[in-house]
Amino acid sequence: MNSLPNLKYRCLVAEKDPQGNVTAAIAERTLGEPAPGELVVRIAFSSLNYKDALAATGHPGVARRLPLVPGIDAAGTIAGGHSTRFQPGDEVLIFHAQFGTERDGGYAEYAVVPEELVFKLPRGLSLLEAMSIGTGGFTAAQCVDELLRHQITPNSGQIVVSGATGGVGIYAVKLLARLGYQVVASTGKAHLVDWLKQHGAREVLTRGDLDDRTQRPLLSARWAGAVDTVGGNTLATILRATQPFGCVTACGLVGGADLPLTVYPFILRGVTLQGVDTAGITPAYRAELWQRLAGDWRLQDIEKISYVVPLDGLTEEIARILRGEIAGRVVVKL
Ligand SMILES: NC(=O)c1ccc[n+]([C@@H]2O[C@H](COP(=O)([O-])OP(=O)(O)OC[C@H]3O[C@@H](n4cnc5c(N)ncnc54)[C@H](OP(=O)(O)O)[C@@H]3O)[C@@H](O)[C@H]2O)c1
Repeated sequence: MNSLPNLKYRCLVAEKDPQGNVTAAIAERTLGEPAPGELVVRIAFSSLNYKDALAATGHPGVARRLPLVPGIDAAGTIAGGHSTRFQPGDEVLIFHAQFGTERDGGYAEYAVVPEELVFKLPRGLSLLEAMSIGTGGFTAAQCVDELLRHQITPNSGQIVVSGATGGVGIYAVKLLARLGYQVVASTGKAHLVDWLKQHGAREVLTRGDLDDRTQRPLLSARWAGAVDTVGGNTLATILRATQPFGCVTACGLVGGADLPLTVYPFILRGVTLQGVDTAGITPAYRAELWQRLAGDWRLQDIEKISYVVPLDGLTEEIARILRGEIAGRVVVKL
């Protein structure tokens, strides 16, 4: 395949200023020559996830090096490089633990990446739809898959989703509702109660309803399952209120990384706490879940829970996601 030497492209770069503060700004770079085994991808869309905002502000647990182009996911077309699997013009996705953390990510018009970070866009999805799903939607799907693996079905009872207006949360609400589950959403955004109901929540709680401070080791058993994106005392409250043999999937920490809890939910109710890590899964499982997102689990109106911002508008959205103000999925157009 052809290479594209000296091509100039725009990207968002997070780097330390002379005072040691990390800021992100648009920069122009020159495309490097792909090494053997690397591909050049012309990126059409990326997306904004909470983790990207942490990378853009230099969180050491996420941004493994600086300067760094954040963006943990991307959708685009093959523009060059060396591959036997891909042809120029092939539509592809990039998802990998290193992308946007250890190596430059998706907030760039071009990326040069090892072939193993790239896989073909599942049939039935456009590049825009794939990034409307993005890491947030994929994480929600993985949580739902874990509930199913633990025999939590639509007949099991109510499923609670915390941080419900966020990227993972709203996708979980919609997907669970689409599969026939009774979804109870919790949100800090009182003005979005009707929006959550339009997308499938049967009931909407406040954040405070999932933040019990009574110290009682067990609460009245309500939830058959949960998708928790918040962590901290929210996750502990959900676990204390989960029915016998229910399953709580935990993927996030926007509300805190601590887990103030006793063992009673586990030893008196047989509750399962299932961790979810999208970065560490096998390529085969990743491909299988993407096929499902493009097939049986496809949402017909993904565009109603996402909006598109240009690269120039991204720093503002990064500040908003860190303040917990975003509702839905943010797609970044390159
Ligand atoms: N484990 C994994 O592989 C994986 C993958 C993807 C994401 N994640 C994690 O999942 C979490 C959600 O990611 P996201 O991209 O969906 O982020 P997001 O769009 O910012 O959504 C988070 C939502 O949590 C709620 N929230 C924010 N601050 C809060 C606080 N202090 N206390 C309680 N609730 C708060 C808000 O919803 P309401 O206003 O509706 O309450 C917010 O919209 C993040 O922690 C992210 O790192 C993990």
